[in-house]
Amino acid sequence: MEQEQLSERPGAAPTSEIGTATKKVFVKTYGCQMNVYDSQRMTDALAADGYVGTEAIEEADLVLLNTCHIREKAAEKVYSELGRIRGLKAERARNGLETIIGVAGCVAQAEGQEIMRREGAVDLVIGPQTYHKLPEALRRVRGGAKVVETDYAIEDKFEHLPQPRRAQIAGRGVTAFLTVQEGCDKFCTFCVVPYTRGSEVSRPVAQIVAEARRLAENGVREITLLGQNVNAWHGLGPDGAEWGLGRLLFALAEIPGLARLRYTTSHPRDMDDELIAAHRDLPALMPYLHLPVQSGSDRILKAMNRRHTAEDYLRLIERIRAARPDIAMSGDFIVGFPGESESDFEATMELVRKVRYAQAYSFKYSPRPGTPGAEMDDHVAESVKDERLQRLQTLLFEQQREFLSGLVGSGMDVLIEKPGRKPGQRVGRSPWLHPVIVDETAGEIGDIVSVRIINAGQGSLFADQA
Ligand code: 5AD
Ligand code: SF4
Repeated sequence: MEQEQLSERPGAAPTSEIGTATKKVFVKTYGCQMNVYDSQRMTDALAADGYVGTEAIEEADLVLLNTCHIREKAAEKVYSELGRIRGLKAERARNGLETIIGVAGCVAQAEGQEIMRREGAVDLVIGPQTYHKLPEALRRVRGGAKVVETDYAIEDKFEHLPQPRRAQIAGRGVTAFLTVQEGCDKFCTFCVVPYTRGSEVSRPVAQIVAEARRLAENGVREITLLGQNVNAWHGLGPDGAEWGLGRLLFALAEIPGLARLRYTTSHPRDMDDELIAAHRDLPALMPYLHLPVQSGSDRILKAMNRRHTAEDYLRLIERIRAARPDIAMSGDFIVGFPGESESDFEATMELVRKVRYAQAYSFKYSPRPGTPGAEMDDHVAESVKDERLQRLQTLLFEQQREFLSGLVGSGMDVLIEKPGRKPGQRVGRSPWLHPVIVDETAGEIGDIVSVRIINAGQGSLFADQA
């Protein structure tokens, strides 16, 4: 899936100054970066329909929750949030104001009608494949209907969603996401994504290049290509040949103004030679790779249907490191998959010791209804999952600290992104995604400047001008 760095990342929709509308929309985003991207595109579609974004939920005429279904807690949080919003809707109704409540994202896709049964205040349920139908669905809601849109549309939603408007792009900073691929055909046995996001679909080359150009023309310096299985992306190039992600990255690196490229998230089986060559040959491709492995035990990898061994993964990383020696690795891990013994878990710890991760995400296995894992025997006790997670996270945290402290004293290029919290400071981004605090004299927002790291905090760095 590798989709997500799934710490919950709720955030309001970007406030937009476009349009003359008085209607306001509040969007809260859970889960992965693809949801962040989708929330922006929904906001764009709504702007064309007369809505402006707000960060104050109590003044919103439309509240949209863009939800995540990857683990149990994520869905439960949505229901408790909906309970709170129901109160808000009642409060606004007392003041004569109408509020439409919509649920989008993977919980919407997975639960459909059930959401309205559990939470009567919800007016609209809309799955990720039908966001281009949002304005029309809202018109039906305003006409008094309760609407559930969860069919997989035959048409390409991206072709029907409006392009982000220029001023909107410009207001969104110097980094951007760009979805190139959606869905997954891998069917890892723990994962709900193939059911919520559907089967793998790649966006066409011309559409991606046009969107990337547009972003660059509006000041975006760094683009992260998104896909649940981003390195399975493929498409017909203008040269008539079938392109893979590596070839696409070579083409995007030519776009004037675009200085940095990233992609997430990848599956080890789809790391082909051309993609590894892109890491070797493209300075714009940042030396940071999120490559989930989930487990270090071959027995568990097999039960997870990952279709690779621990050794395959280690050998692959060796090849990638040979191509790009300063590459930093990130990964995802699941502890307590059904049948995981102490020695299986120890194999995961051993793999982590061998790889040395700069960053990683680790989770307790959570059975998802409808996935094969949920039906397996031998579920691991919660207390054992807790204990293993603790041990794994302690090790991963140590490696993360080591990586950070290893950067102190070194020089690096930093993309200046935004003003800092303290006056006189700016925040930049390292090639490995760390926030880097620099003096405002270091450069303007959008500049890439050379700095020297003088100190490391918890996850962030402090720099001097080099
Ligand atoms: N339980 C726990 N973690 C999961 N992930 C996906 N499905 C589950 C599940 N059922 C994790 C994987 C994946 C990341 C996005 O979330 O590690 O790579
Ligand atoms: Fe990733 Fe596997 Fe889920 Fe596909 S099924 S999204 S490869 S974890």
